[in-house]
Amino acid sequence: LGESRPGVVDEDSDVQAERDRINTTDANSLKTSDSIVVKNLKKYYDNFLAVDEICVSVAQQECFGLLGQNGAGKTTTFKMLTGDVIPTSGNAWLDSHDIKHEMKTVQRNLGYCPQFDALIDQMTGRETLTMFARLRGVSESQVKNVVVDLLDIMMLRQYADKECGTYSGGNKRKLSTAIALIGDPQFVFLDEPTTGMDPGARRQLWNVLSQVRASGRTLVLTSHSMEECDALCTKIVIMVNGRFVCCGSSQHLKNKFGQGYTLICNMKNSEDGSHVSTEPLKQFLCTAFPSTKIFDDHQGYCHFQIMDKNVSLGKVFGAMESTKQKYNVEDYAIHQATLEQVFLSFTRNQVSPKEEVQDGMCKQMCCCVLCCCS
Ligand SMILES: Nc1ncnc2c1ncn2[C@@H]1O[C@H](COP(=O)(O)OP(=O)(O)OP(=O)(O)O)[C@@H](O)[C@H]1O
Ligand SMILES: [Mg+2]
Repeated sequence: LGESRPGVVDEDSDVQAERDRINTTDANSLKTSDSIVVKNLKKYYDNFLAVDEICVSVAQQECFGLLGQNGAGKTTTFKMLTGDVIPTSGNAWLDSHDIKHEMKTVQRNLGYCPQFDALIDQMTGRETLTMFARLRGVSESQVKNVVVDLLDIMMLRQYADKECGTYSGGNKRKLSTAIALIGDPQFVFLDEPTTGMDPGARRQLWNVLSQVRASGRTLVLTSHSMEECDALCTKIVIMVNGRFVCCGSSQHLKNKFGQGYTLICNMKNSEDGSHVSTEPLKQFLCTAFPSTKIFDDHQGYCHFQIMDKNVSLGKVFGAMESTKQKYNVEDYAIHQATLEQVFLSFTRNQVSPKEEVQDGMCKQMCCCVLCCCS
């Protein structure tokens, strides 16, 4: 098996501590204290290492969020835990049942919303949910109510008797999420559940998932929305090239890895309606706070990153208050580093999987110039 690991990012001390705890603690005591235990789980697709010896534990009633760029290995991790993909090595326990020998029991306790909807186009939403309710062992007298409740909470009532094949992308996601929740499983795995959902539906789903968690269930979620992870996840890991690089609550990650402040300035308009130049403001800030980076500047919005943790918030406010008239700043906002900034600071190290290119030929037969001629 190939061990070429371009773009390997060092794992943070929290990830190492988690790895050490899982590898040195007695397996039985881990299985009783944690709802999910993942131990050195690894997956190769041919000689491409998609998931690299990850370790993590998730307590009951936790919402665990897996973040990472496209291709980081999130879905592969999910699929190993749900039995869709066989791990190359390592193991995991869900409620003390291991995925190598007790997958049937694991699956009985688990609801899964896959990244890509696996619906039967000719069945209606109601028929689909009824079928899954029966498959999951909901008692016949309860099936109708369970299905109606799910259609209601997922805001699908008006589409209930339409064929799934005619559903919009967002409504298909709602139905796939409803399938994952059927039968009130102990574990709910949701791979990008809100992709394509409108903002109202997204927030409704957040409420539902918060209630599911409050009722004692353990959730595992991937999302490309940092807002969603902030709102839902109690524990987050960021994955880069198949490895976990940092781990903790959203606030912990912001405190530990967030650098300084974000300053967003909205410039005044000049008399002819155009925005005034941002150059004098940029020069001022870069001189007053040498760690300043200009993140974005267009349409009168200027976005700065003041990277120095030792600069106090008061000092930045003071500087802005005393100069905003002079530099024609209409208004401004200063805030702590966001989860998105933490995410970007880690994921900029992700490299595309060079292992897929062998001897100048792309294994996937894509015929692309970039792959085959680089
Ligand atoms: N069946 C497969 N065969 C070969 N390679 C695969 C297979 N499935 C995934 N991969 C590769 O493994 C890597 C991880 O893929 P995965 O789908 O787990 O990423 P992801 O983090 O879920 O990405 P996204 O955010 O785009 O969903 C990618 O480089 C992908 O091309
Ligand atoms: Mg994925």
